[in-house]
Parts: sequence; structure tokens; C-alpha cells
Amino acid sequence: MARARLAVLASGRGSNLEALIAARREGRLHADIVLVAGNRPDAAALALARAAGIATLARESRGTGERAAWDRAFMAEVAAAGPDWIVLAGFMRRLDGVAIAPWVGRMLNIHPSLLPKHPGLDTHRRVLEAGDAEHGASVHFVTAELDAGPVLAQVRMPVHVDDTPASLARRLLPLEHRLLVACVALAAAGRVALRADQRVVVLDGTALDAPLRLDERQGLQRTAP
Ligand code: GRF
Repeated sequence: MARARLAVLASGRGSNLEALIAARREGRLHADIVLVAGNRPDAAALALARAAGIATLARESRGTGERAAWDRAFMAEVAAAGPDWIVLAGFMRRLDGVAIAPWVGRMLNIHPSLLPKHPGLDTHRRVLEAGDAEHGASVHFVTAELDAGPVLAQVRMPVHVDDTPASLARRLLPLEHRLLVACVALAAAGRVALRADQRVVVLDGTALDAPLRLDERQGLQRTAP
């Protein structure tokens, strides 16, 4: 099988992108990152990609007027790189449904909460406010609704009594990196798909009843719903 071609979309620091680059370099991810695209030209993620010799696309989205038109133009440029999968790794813009429609089923996002809990921003603070005993991250298929596409896999961790939003973010980040790499590796191997109704994840030809769970030693595991 040909190596999968990945486009990564990122707006910020790029630590998830860095995890993908490292996994590829170390032979843990059999895929090529053909493009890193972002909506903040000064983002560290884009600098990181350039330093790694990866093609970049930098398009400022602030102050550009009509959102949907920007999204369509941006996605057309991403599509021109010919990716098999598009990975949103800290891409902080909600893309228009029409612009992403051709990619539904081939687009994954990492979100720092146990979806469907806490979609949107500020998840670490909201976990504490809700008194949750557990926190975590989810990798899900992107659909038109924000952070609402079917979840492929999650990683969980306990919330401690003395946790702050900052301590949760710090503890979760390395888990996010491992989760994202594991999920992208599955996608690149052609093992995951989204069912045509856009509601169910299919792994190795079988519908998932519940998200996979990342186990520290055994990697991604099936779980009971
Ligand atoms: C991560 O927490 C990701 O889940 C969220 O934004 C953060 C991005 O971090 N959507 P980085 O840019 O990958 O370091």
C-alpha cells in the first residue's frame, strides 16, 4: 500500500504536529506529511514545519470578511496538496460545512475533553467547574457541527483535588500526543472509516459501539459502550 499523505492544520504552538513529525521520523507512523496549513501566519506550528522541511500554507483568517468564502478558498488550497487525510491539530477555527463536505470521513480533530463533554473552548476550566472526576482527550471525525463528529478514540486521566486548568493542560498534553499519533497511524493504515450516515466509526470493517481507549501499555483498545 502506498504511504498515506497527510495535511495537518494548526493555528498555534504545534506540539501535536511535532509529535506526528517525531513519530514519522522514528518509524512509528508510516505516512508522509505533505502540507502543514494554518490560519495564523506567525504560528509556531508553521515555523516548526518549515524547519522540518515540510511544505506550508499560511493564510491569515482575521479580518478577511466573509467566513465561508475564506474557508472554501483555504480548503481548496489544502486539497491541491492531494492529501488522503486532513488532521486538525490545534486548528482554532471552525470551518464552514460546505468547505469541509468533501473531506468528511477523511478529516480528524484532536479535542482536549472527553467528548461529548465540553465541546468548544476552555475545556480544562470547565472540567473543574463541573466537578468531573475524569478528564481526557478525544480524536473524532470532523463533521459540520463543532466537536460533534463520531469519536474514534479517547485517553482518560483522573482529576486531582488540587488541579488547576494549567495543571490539567500540562498533564493531558503528552497523552494527547500519544492519542493523536495512534489514531493517525490507524487512519494512515486504512483501518478506520466513517460510515456513510456520518454517525458511526468503522474499524477493520466493524462498527465501533464506543470509542477506542488508549491504554498506556497496550495502545488503542476496544471498550464496551
Ligand atoms: C491541544 O490541546 C489541542 O487538543 C487543542 O489545542 C491544543 C493545541 O496544542 N485543540 P498544540 O498547538 O498542538 O501544541
